[in-house]
Amino acid sequence: MSWTTYYVGDGRPRDVVLADPPPWRTFPRKPLGTQFRPPQGLTDAVNAALHLRRPLLLTGPAGSGKSTVIEQVSAELRLGPVLRWHLTSRSTLADALCRYDALGRLHAQRLQPGAGDAPADHDDIAPFLRLGPLGTALLPSERPRALLIDEVDKSDLDLPSDLLDVLERGEYEIPELVRHRHSPVPVRGWAGDQHHPIERGRVQCTAFPFIVMTSNGERDFPAPFLRRCIRYRMPKPTDAMLRHVVAAHLGCDVLEGGPVAELITSFVERLHAGESLAVDQLLNAAHLLTDPDGPQGEQRERLVRLLVRELAGD
Ligand SMILES: Nc1ncnc2c1ncn2[C@@H]1O[C@H](COP(=O)(O)OP(=O)(O)OP(=O)(O)O)[C@@H](O)[C@H]1O
Ligand SMILES: [Mg+2]
Repeated sequence: MSWTTYYVGDGRPRDVVLADPPPWRTFPRKPLGTQFRPPQGLTDAVNAALHLRRPLLLTGPAGSGKSTVIEQVSAELRLGPVLRWHLTSRSTLADALCRYDALGRLHAQRLQPGAGDAPADHDDIAPFLRLGPLGTALLPSERPRALLIDEVDKSDLDLPSDLLDVLERGEYEIPELVRHRHSPVPVRGWAGDQHHPIERGRVQCTAFPFIVMTSNGERDFPAPFLRRCIRYRMPKPTDAMLRHVVAAHLGCDVLEGGPVAELITSFVERLHAGESLAVDQLLNAAHLLTDPDGPQGEQRERLVRLLVRELAGD
């Protein structure tokens, strides 16, 4: 299937069958960790974090694999599905621990027939609570859960310090349940529909989760935060490493002197000259170069330039 039959810009409707997607763009998504190739020193940092029960703070440029590391660790060590907390400036610690839908509960109580006569009978709080990713990761368990706290540098200024306090103690309270008449209350976890009994609103972890925090370095963190983490900076990839990465993703060897090997060499040269480029840009270009129905000649060169454009600027 040649892609020259896709959009041509003549405005005439046509039925087009798209070629198979690149392996990393198939849905539902395949496990992300299998193709990851750890850069030198990363396995030591991961093992130190696991051994010392400390969060791992990964810094480095966009597309250097920071968010993918935990997928591989979790799959390899059978820590279960990764719990994900993606931070923005609006994220709060309270939301990451447990969300309470107070308005929903009020509505439900009003809609119950006879609610005015016997309010106590309609006081079931459980459906209106849901643990967040951090709250779920800290539930008592035999084995540690895997928790990704993604883009921690985008958070509100105070959040990293507040977070440290919870991680230091490995416990938290759900205020609505501390005051509640019933105990335990079954509360739904973050991933899936499983409910977890919470006693008197208190949660204490028994196996400290494996936590990866990622940062693009948009902000410096205070020393008390840094000293409690194991830190690792994703290094600039080398020629040899990128060959392994491309081969792992495309499922074929990178032939010496071939177009993909040339692409990798020029990619590494540009990185070392200070350009900002991400591994997935390289993967997209390598996919086009290895596709037998892909573009050829001048068109191919134009497309590779389009795909591997520097990330700085528009
Ligand atoms: N060492 C590697 N081995 C295999 N694949 C990699 C490697 N590094 C990056 N990739 C691939 O590059 C893509 C981008 O990785 P990822 O999203 O983890 O980067 P990131 O550092 O979190 O980027 P951002 O800062 O933009 O969030 C993924 O598809 C990942 O599989
Ligand atoms: Mg990321």
